Amino acid sequence: MVGLGVMGANLCRNLLEHGFRVDAFDSDSAKGEAIAAESRAGFRHRADLDALLAGLEPPRCLLLMVPAGAAVDESLAGLATRLSPGDIIVDLGNSHYRDSERRLAAAAAHDIRFVGCGISGGARGARHGPALMPGGDASAWPLLRDLLESIAARYDGEPCVSWIGPGGAGHFVKTVHNGIEYADMQLIAETWQLARAALGLEHDAIGRLFEAWNRGPLESYLVQITAIILQTREADGGYLVDRIVDRAGQKGTGAWSSLASFDYAVPATLLAESVYARMLSARKDQRLRVAAQYPARQLETGAATTAGTLEQALYAAKILAYAQGFELLQQASREHGWGLKPAVIAAGWRAGCVIRGALLRPAMAALAEDPDRHLVEAGVFRDALAAADGALREVVRLGVERGISLPAFGAAITYLDAIRSESLPASLIQAQRDFFGAHGFERSDGDAGVLHHYDWPDENSGR
Ligand code: 6PG
Repeated sequence: MVGLGVMGANLCRNLLEHGFRVDAFDSDSAKGEAIAAESRAGFRHRADLDALLAGLEPPRCLLLMVPAGAAVDESLAGLATRLSPGDIIVDLGNSHYRDSERRLAAAAAHDIRFVGCGISGGARGARHGPALMPGGDASAWPLLRDLLESIAARYDGEPCVSWIGPGGAGHFVKTVHNGIEYADMQLIAETWQLARAALGLEHDAIGRLFEAWNRGPLESYLVQITAIILQTREADGGYLVDRIVDRAGQKGTGAWSSLASFDYAVPATLLAESVYARMLSARKDQRLRVAAQYPARQLETGAATTAGTLEQALYAAKILAYAQGFELLQQASREHGWGLKPAVIAAGWRAGCVIRGALLRPAMAALAEDPDRHLVEAGVFRDALAAADGALREVVRLGVERGISLPAFGAAITYLDAIRSESLPASLIQAQRDFFGAHGFERSDGDAGVLHHYDWPDENSGR
């Protein structure tokens, strides 16, 4: 193990508990000494990379758990001259999949086997069982399989790890996982805000609502922790959540999935809106300034929004977020020839990872039947979406009337309406493009794919 921060140290403990021997190195030797002091059988702290490598038998397996970015390249540079053909490097960081592709090619030039492995579940997951998403040099999989399956989370006894695919596929899948994670979190946050406004409930009552919802179709890790968070009070009785600054951080993987949605032309609107929502939240000073100048007008309508409406809307929007994420995986796989198996990915996300939850079970079943299927067209989700139509519309109406910004719910209803609209106003956009740029347009009364140009009048002609 190279890198003994919280994640690396916990992975060491997880490996040791499963009977593996672990030699470990960190440039900060205090971190290795701290684990050594726990006196766990099979652990050796190594003072430098040479000592680490000298103690391992070929083919050596190096697990890299350092911050994504430059630190990974630095570690790889340090290892490059010291490794032998056949050795394996597994990058467990949240690396960009294109970096993993570059690193894979560079390693392959020296016959080193590189694996980019997504990992989810945070520090607790690393310690007791994460979801793992390995991809890259497939010849490393038979050698890694036992190790990764042993430490991974399990769902119904099945390990939450499988070989994802070639190139940067492993890290790409983790990136999309995080895009979905952002949308899921944003939707839950918006639901909380709506519940306060519409139901007039205190945080702990809303927490209990989430608790109840966690026993139904919304059952998931994120709903579960939300229930706990909302009921957490400090010693003086005040809610902790009221004392947390409403500025969301982000390390970039959510944005990467949105950028990928542009690259692969997949309208992952909920994912993208959730990244923008974090950016907006971070602009606290600006928000306060503008709010003081012209606060949102709140219209009281007296319409009764119930907890059931919120639950139904949250579930429907969540389906749409997952549907968008899976479409992103399907499309990137087609373009790269990765051969991703969406059902296997859904199965691997059922435990251990941040987005684990009940919804992945029907998603898995639907994708096993047809790996190319868009989830909004899968029977079980189609029915839920049809049933929730009114609820989604109701929460967005409420948000608009009360001046509550609902980027993710707004994106959800807009997306749903768009993908089932028989006609969209894009005909006018085509006309505008042809007007100023002679880009051409297809005619509804003409042959498909044939572009026509209209000889539009000059805009200054007085018409
Ligand atoms: C996981 C998470 C994790 C992520 C952090 C921080 O699956 O365990 O996705 O990998 O890096 O939660 O993410 P942000 O700082 O971008 O919110």
